[in-house]
Amino acid sequence: INVAIIMGGYSSEFEISLKSGNVVHKNLDSALYRSHRVHILKEKWVYVDESNQEFPINKDDFSVEVNGTKITFDVVFNAIHGTPGEDGLMQAYLELIGIPQTSCDMYQSALTFNKRDLLSVLKPYGIKTATSFYLNKGDIINETEILEKVGLPCFVKPNKSGSSFGISKVKSKEELLPAIEVAYKEDNEIIIESFLDGTEVSVGVINYKGETKVLPMTEIVSENDFFDYEAKYLGKSQEITPARISDEIHSKVASTAKKAYEILKMRGFSRSEFIIVNGEPFMLEMNTVPGLTTESILPQQAREAGISLPELFGNAIQEALN
Ligand code: DAL
Ligand code: MG
Repeated sequence: INVAIIMGGYSSEFEISLKSGNVVHKNLDSALYRSHRVHILKEKWVYVDESNQEFPINKDDFSVEVNGTKITFDVVFNAIHGTPGEDGLMQAYLELIGIPQTSCDMYQSALTFNKRDLLSVLKPYGIKTATSFYLNKGDIINETEILEKVGLPCFVKPNKSGSSFGISKVKSKEELLPAIEVAYKEDNEIIIESFLDGTEVSVGVINYKGETKVLPMTEIVSENDFFDYEAKYLGKSQEITPARISDEIHSKVASTAKKAYEILKMRGFSRSEFIIVNGEPFMLEMNTVPGLTTESILPQQAREAGISLPELFGNAIQEALN
């Protein structure tokens, strides 16, 4: 089975995606899969061979000619965080040309990548969220109105982005406008949320051997103000798996995460973030192409569940092919 691992992407997360993709490349069971790397970058879509030589991808059928031999792919393993891998664009393209891929479908990708729309869809099902205020680029910004709704401190986030790029914790009115400017650099939509004072947990949910499986949860203890880029990738946080929460709270969070996955008719990977306040989970977001490096949260959770990386990745490929 020829697997194209797509990695890179057009967003600030492209370097993290290259790391995720390379970990997948090294951890596919070579008895079952022939693993190929494809870089999807703004400037070029290229196949990268083992000596890092590049060959252009033919976008008509996602094939490549390598030294006179045409390679076609049976399945795409999606390791692109952010656009165009986590927002439905690659999903739509691959569906049109008939190549299965490992993440959720186009609609689910587009919906979950949009924090505002995801939370709006889940709220009527009883899934709790922070109080929020939305802005589109060009909207008049009334700081008093925003802060009356969300209070201080609050979080200002780009609506569609990952890895905490563009997110600020705002502690005073003076910090609000600069934070909005920063967020607009990542996206033309902004979500401003009230601060939830509680325990942060990251919950991986996958489809494993045909069933929705909630992986052991990870508790996030950040040394910084919140789980920002530095905390995520430069060691300024502790990630504790399994999370130190009671069985009762655990089952509440697990059933909420599972419910969200099933309501949305998800498949493939998902990792949802929650803040637990007084025993109640509040959902922040869902990532459908979570980090897949060996230190990333979802692979840690899979290990804790006794699922090795080759098993985790192979399961995703089998699900895509079914
Ligand atoms: N967006 C990053 C890669 C994550 O969710 O792990
Ligand atoms: Mg995210």
